[in-house]
Amino acid sequence: MFDVIVKNASLRFGDHLVFENLNLTMQGGKWTCLLGGSGVGKTSLLRLIAGLSGNDNSRADVSGEVICEDGFPVNHRIAWMSQEDLLLPWFTVLENITLGQRLRRTWGDRLKRRPLLSGETTDQAMSILEKVGLSDKADVLPQHLSGGQRQRAALARTLMENRPLVLMDEPFGALDAITRLNLQDLACELLANRTVLLITHDPLEALRLGHAVYHLRGHPARLTDAIVPSGTTPRSLDNHELMSLQGTLLDRLRHESFSEGDSV
Ligand SMILES: Nc1ncnc2c1ncn2[C@@H]1O[C@H](COP(=O)(O)OP(=O)(O)O)[C@@H](O)[C@H]1O
Ligand SMILES: [Mg+2]
Repeated sequence: MFDVIVKNASLRFGDHLVFENLNLTMQGGKWTCLLGGSGVGKTSLLRLIAGLSGNDNSRADVSGEVICEDGFPVNHRIAWMSQEDLLLPWFTVLENITLGQRLRRTWGDRLKRRPLLSGETTDQAMSILEKVGLSDKADVLPQHLSGGQRQRAALARTLMENRPLVLMDEPFGALDAITRLNLQDLACELLANRTVLLITHDPLEALRLGHAVYHLRGHPARLTDAIVPSGTTPRSLDNHELMSLQGTLLDRLRHESFSEGDSV
């Protein structure tokens, strides 16, 4: 697995400098977690990494590089998961999670009247639905799923894309505490060995799942030094270090004022 390095990233919307010369290394095959208050620039950083900044008529002024350690471009190697599950209401769960495969059908496939989904893709999708506990919901419309089930379907769609770099923008933010814990465990298991950047408002989530935890804060925003909790993920809730770090991080989030070189 390759590291992904954000180098000297700067972003400005008009007079508003969101961040400047920001550097971040996401270790290959590990989870990097990013905390920070609303509006600090977390989603903007994710969009910059995905190459989406400045693609939305927003007149964003963007600079910096995103480099993969293996020398290949980051394009087409990213899957994205957000708080909104983005399931299309008129498609079944199976149709939703295979949307990428269906959209990427070539003209050749159409001319040869190949089926919308190959048998192999359907088998793969069903196997992923089984892993996320939704094999009995393949033919169901999203409106009949609970919030947790919808987010599991979104996770299944992310897994179907099978990309090495996964960008997650508060993916469990709308879920109740228990469903959230269960989904954290599931995502941790199913995305093991991928390079994941997880944005969250929840220090406990970051500390359970992260190999490195950063806090983005200030105007323009800067990253604090990484917190590197010990032990394997997902960390257990009775881990004393985790509880103490959670207290420290909650305190920091309450007092967002930035002081240079701050670290835990
Ligand atoms: N398209 C845009 N045009 C102008 N300002 C934007 C745009 N997108 C985000 N911003 C501003 O950039 C800042 C960071 O936004 P965002 O990255 O969404 O924050 P976060 O995800 O940390 O809540 C906010 O002040 C927001 O208002
Ligand atoms: Mg955001």
